[in-house]
Amino acid sequence: MSDSHSKLYPPPPQIVAGAHVSGMAAYEKLCAEAQADYPGYWARLAREMVSWKQPFTKVLNDSNAPFFKWFEDGTLNASYNCLDRNVERGLGDKVAIIFETDDGKITRVTYRELLERTCRLANALKAQGVKKGDRVVIYMPMSVEGVVAMQACARIGATHSVVFGGFSAQSLRDRIQDAGAVMVLTADEQVRGGKQLPLKAIVDEALGMGGCETVRKVIVYRRTGGQVAFDAARDLWLHEVTQNQPTTCEPEWVEAEHPLFLLYTSGSTGKPKGVQHSTGGYLLHAALTTKWTFDLKDKDIFWCTADIGWVTGHTYIAYGPLALGGTELVFEGVPTFPDAGRFWRMIQDHKVTIFYTAPTAIRSLIKAAESNEAVHPKRYDLSSLRILGSVGEPINPAAWEWYHANVGGGRCPIVDTWWQTETGGHMITPLPGATPLVPGSCTLPFPGIDAAIVDETGQDVPHGQGGILVIKKPWPSMIRTIWGDPERFKKSYYPPELKGYYLAGDGASRDPQTGYFTITGRIDDVLNVSGHRMGTMEIESALVSCTELVAEAAVVGRPDETTGEAICAFVVLKRPRPTGEEAKKIANELRNWVAKEIGPIAKPKDIRFGDNLPKTRSGKIMRRLLRSIARGEPITQDTSTLENPAILDQLAQSN
Ligand code: WT7
Repeated sequence: MSDSHSKLYPPPPQIVAGAHVSGMAAYEKLCAEAQADYPGYWARLAREMVSWKQPFTKVLNDSNAPFFKWFEDGTLNASYNCLDRNVERGLGDKVAIIFETDDGKITRVTYRELLERTCRLANALKAQGVKKGDRVVIYMPMSVEGVVAMQACARIGATHSVVFGGFSAQSLRDRIQDAGAVMVLTADEQVRGGKQLPLKAIVDEALGMGGCETVRKVIVYRRTGGQVAFDAARDLWLHEVTQNQPTTCEPEWVEAEHPLFLLYTSGSTGKPKGVQHSTGGYLLHAALTTKWTFDLKDKDIFWCTADIGWVTGHTYIAYGPLALGGTELVFEGVPTFPDAGRFWRMIQDHKVTIFYTAPTAIRSLIKAAESNEAVHPKRYDLSSLRILGSVGEPINPAAWEWYHANVGGGRCPIVDTWWQTETGGHMITPLPGATPLVPGSCTLPFPGIDAAIVDETGQDVPHGQGGILVIKKPWPSMIRTIWGDPERFKKSYYPPELKGYYLAGDGASRDPQTGYFTITGRIDDVLNVSGHRMGTMEIESALVSCTELVAEAAVVGRPDETTGEAICAFVVLKRPRPTGEEAKKIANELRNWVAKEIGPIAKPKDIRFGDNLPKTRSGKIMRRLLRSIARGEPITQDTSTLENPAILDQLAQSN
């Protein structure tokens, strides 16, 4: 491990002062409270953070583990909590959402307006026969309308399932069918990076494939005015169905366990899993983590760059910040349009105070900034920022340091938040006014979360030793089941050998001194080379720490006769893709670099160079595809969400 791993960044005094959780003693006090009376701790917070119609008297019901229930006799409405109660508190004229389009047009929506728009759509959904418990698929661009769609479903007790706008017709169809949706909400087109991309046409295609007979209506938001086919019997315009609807709508008060949403995510097998979340426990954790992890205050301008099609966009755009009456920025476009300075310019223009993005975005913007001074963050006034966040994958120390120095000006804590679609919200994360930071570590569990590292039999492993990341106790925002497949839920997350602990699917280790967690990557991505266990992420981090040469790297395993598994690295250089002798030379340099960073056993056997890596449109590297390429197998997987399909041939060829 390089020296940077041991570097400690104490929380800056100006953040500690007045933070919601101020100082390590405050953090430890909360942990002790949870330890002493686990249900009592969550009950206190559930009463403080959430407005209940019918207060709960039961806290945790674990009689049918792992199908846990929280606050089960309480009733509430998520949309009431995010909208009405803020208006009632006098925040009606406060800006809830600042929306910026791909081409830079800005609109501001107050809490009162957001409530009225939500009520109009909620009334329209009811008029179309949508009832409590019905599933509604949302296939929409990043927009105020997208957030309103989610809130409107919540308001009438319909369970939404947002499908990311980058998914293909086939994927959309599979999700509609699995959810048994009665309605699809979409837009004519979406606009990203200066391009108009179809949505409605993909819905038409998906529904045309058959198997979606449960869908009665499709409501279409007119975003671009582009030409779309219209089925008079099935399709409706959003502006027409909402036009004459009242601006008030009595919320449907639902039980705490009522499914607020399904969100499909990939498992280790092919079929996506419909992760089912509750209303009460989910909303509690969405609000609480937004408050403590981001230290959100009245005057903050919060910006989470995720898409509403992912859980990050659910918890930290559609629900968390609104539940607290915060002001948030919502962005339609991509970080590189019209140039790679877009994020920095938006932070400057909107005086963003809290910025939450993914390591992959940071790494690509580092690359851009290093080749073009004009898009370097130092060219922008980012002095409004006070807290930075990272999510989705381990952030390598080199990227962390760059983010800290160049975006945060050395004064903003970085909250490296570890969590998953299944966990609903942050599980292991620094709290900005309390936790000293170590680059590359997500530090310590959120107060009340009982995270641990165990071996295959569920025994705790000592600090300093790698193992399986588990959550020992149920928590309020946890996945409730896999929609329609409770057996798969049990099998995937509660394997019998793990003593009733939640299996996260990640490997991790804890620092012997600090107890800090470092995530080493998915267990299914852990390699065993000559009997040595290694995280693919660890090798990637080593490669990208070669900042002179490497822009990005992805590492996968492939079977090898002598060593069990061999390491295969796919590398994007900061210079044109090398071939022939030059490629061999650079590959050797990188092998030696990795040997220096981790040890000779971590030397990649294969190194292949590409102009880019295969990524989904949300920027996740598609390692499944790389594994096939590494093995020399034909690609049989679904490549429909791939941003840049041409790259596959290049990586398959280059050697
Ligand atoms: C997987 C969950 C969390 C919302 C977005 C992704 C990885 C996530 C971190 C982090 C290291 C991380 C894990 C996890 N991951 N955050 N801060 N450090 N790894 O949600 O698609 O459900 O993916 O993302 O491997 O299991 P997801």
